[in-house]
Amino acid sequence: MHAPLPPVRAIPVEPLMRAERLAKAFGGHAALADVSFSVRAGEVVAVLGPSGAGKTTLFRCLAGLAPPDAGSVRVWGQDIARTAGRDRRRLARDVAVVFQQFNLVGRLTALDNVLAGRLGHVPAWRGWSRRFGRADRLLALECLDRVGLLAKAEQRADTLSGGQQQRVAIARALAQRPRLIVADEPVASLDPATAAGVLDLLRDIARGPQGDDGAVGVVCSLHQVDLARAAADRIIGLAGGRVVADLPTSLFDAAAAARLYGNS
Ligand SMILES: Nc1ncnc2c1ncn2[C@@H]1O[C@H](COP(=O)(O)OP(=O)(O)OP(=O)(O)O)[C@@H](O)[C@H]1O
Ligand SMILES: [Mg+2]
Repeated sequence: MHAPLPPVRAIPVEPLMRAERLAKAFGGHAALADVSFSVRAGEVVAVLGPSGAGKTTLFRCLAGLAPPDAGSVRVWGQDIARTAGRDRRRLARDVAVVFQQFNLVGRLTALDNVLAGRLGHVPAWRGWSRRFGRADRLLALECLDRVGLLAKAEQRADTLSGGQQQRVAIARALAQRPRLIVADEPVASLDPATAAGVLDLLRDIARGPQGDDGAVGVVCSLHQVDLARAAADRIIGLAGGRVVADLPTSLFDAAAAARLYGNS
């Protein structure tokens, strides 16, 4: 008899998220044109590109905050701009958004901010009255622990440092139990060391616990090539609203960066 083999982490065949031929224009100016790429569970994808390249526009489409003029964003095969009712609510839970400016409620504690991540899971009246059950509170504490901030659970969010606030925002995203985390410049307001720490955290979250269930996909936009190289599995270069590079990080070299930022 052989000893049983250790469990192998399943590599999903279907992408978790697929953006297909996205286009969006503002007043005749194309902010996105023919943008296609995908993100798999367990993968960190960084989107790089000069200012005005269309990153925020793209992330708003990925998060379902703005509909594209053409094309689709599919999460588990479902078009997020064309779902309604219960499917729409499920997709809203599956996709968590992390913003550059954290978007916490300053006068609430870190824990209460994280509990807001549970709003899509509990009946509305519980959310309005902030009466979360024991299981939700435990989960929120677990998420704070995951980002290293359990000791700050009862501290008001507006008294936390920028790096701590972004980690609370990530804990809130985790409390949502998402499949995909969409983060537009999540570290732009942080100093370099804190930024690297937050990206390490996102990478660990993407890897998830062993077994497929915990793995999520992360797509984030960044301005620093070095940070993308350290944290991402794949780098997408966006320029003038178009995908000009889609490479494994190891192939995104200085020449690729120079081409993206127009230095060669
Ligand atoms: N609501 C809007 N109305 C008009 N034009 C817009 C709007 N949102 C974005 N744009 C334009 O679309 C283009 C892409 O903007 P976007 O904010 O997506 O760029 P970005 O890559 O996020 O830039 P940055 O790195 O500076 O954040 C820009 O030319 C911008 O002026
Ligand atoms: Mg932007």
